[in-house]
Amino acid sequence: MRVLLTGGAGYIGAHTAIALIEAGHDVLIIDDMSGTSVEAVRRVERITGATVPTLVADVRDVDALTAFVREHAPVDAVVHLAGLKAVGESVAEPVRYYDVNVGTSIALLKVMAAEGIHTIVFSSSATVYGTPEALPLTEDSPTGIDLANPYGKTKRIIEEIISDAAAADPQLRAVSLRYFNPVGAHPSGLIGEDPHGIPNNLMPFVSRVAIGALPEVAVFGSDYDTPDGTGLRDYIHVSDLASGHVAALEQASPGYEVYNLGTGEPVSVLELIAAFERASGRDIPRRVAPRRPGDVAATYADPAKAQRELGWSTRLTIDDACRDYWTWQTQNPNGYAGA
Ligand code: UD1
Repeated sequence: MRVLLTGGAGYIGAHTAIALIEAGHDVLIIDDMSGTSVEAVRRVERITGATVPTLVADVRDVDALTAFVREHAPVDAVVHLAGLKAVGESVAEPVRYYDVNVGTSIALLKVMAAEGIHTIVFSSSATVYGTPEALPLTEDSPTGIDLANPYGKTKRIIEEIISDAAAADPQLRAVSLRYFNPVGAHPSGLIGEDPHGIPNNLMPFVSRVAIGALPEVAVFGSDYDTPDGTGLRDYIHVSDLASGHVAALEQASPGYEVYNLGTGEPVSVLELIAAFERASGRDIPRRVAPRRPGDVAATYADPAKAQRELGWSTRLTIDDACRDYWTWQTQNPNGYAGA
């Protein structure tokens, strides 16, 4: 298939581009590079040996996107990852989040309809569940429970829009993938997460502490009702996550489906720090800090539906993810900017 990958230069996008190419698909990328760098695409090309036509533009620029799609016609499918993803920022700038995330998705669906593209795989998030009522989370678990942040709401709204579009168009094959916590990096050390400033998420933060760029990890809460008192999450290696997109694309049938992409294995904050210490061979100082507002005690997936219907399952462990993240970190101490 020839696949248009929106946000294809981002952390998940670049890994998904590699997985698609390795599965025999052709990839085109549209990315505004606001959260990443064209260097990521160059490295995808280096790893795969493929040429990846790339348009540096906002997906909401319908004229530019249409011209790009026509230039590379026929485009068979879209994998839609473009969007803003910082939870805290979304609370401070909600209108920008709705504008970019929802606006991008609407523009894309319009271009797909106009250009006769009938398959879309969308990057949603386990955030849409909000505070879990029961664990593990299945795709039938209720969504939106105490969902306070605009980022998560945009994901939920876009799922609704895509579901409605599929209900109205019998040709449309639409899939939403609810990611749990993506971690790790490409085993080559060439592609990884490149957060700007001080990272918000746990593994990038722990890695910065391991390399000495930050003094210590603040463990947000040690009095949760969990085995060691710290938060439990379902950390999925980004390469496993990427292969989930390939499976979803190849198995998509007319209609709308939702899949959890997670390992099903809860890992605590302290367990992740310990795994990173083993992978890096460094001591990682930490101190207990107050709970972070908006955090839930525990969230993890039941990945059985994706296993059953997509034939997909995770292969890599938290130790693999820490090893690969550390390789990326040590080879690229300044991210893509150092290239
Ligand atoms: C966060 C977002 C989620 C997003 C995901 C992307 C929130 C509330 N949720 O999930 O919407 O999809 O990132 O990966 O921000 N922790 C620490 N110290 C730190 C950082 C994190 O103890 O410096 C803890 C957190 O309390 C949590 C765990 O580590 O228990 C994971 O945190 P994080 O990596 O930020 O992911 P989530 O909060 O699960």
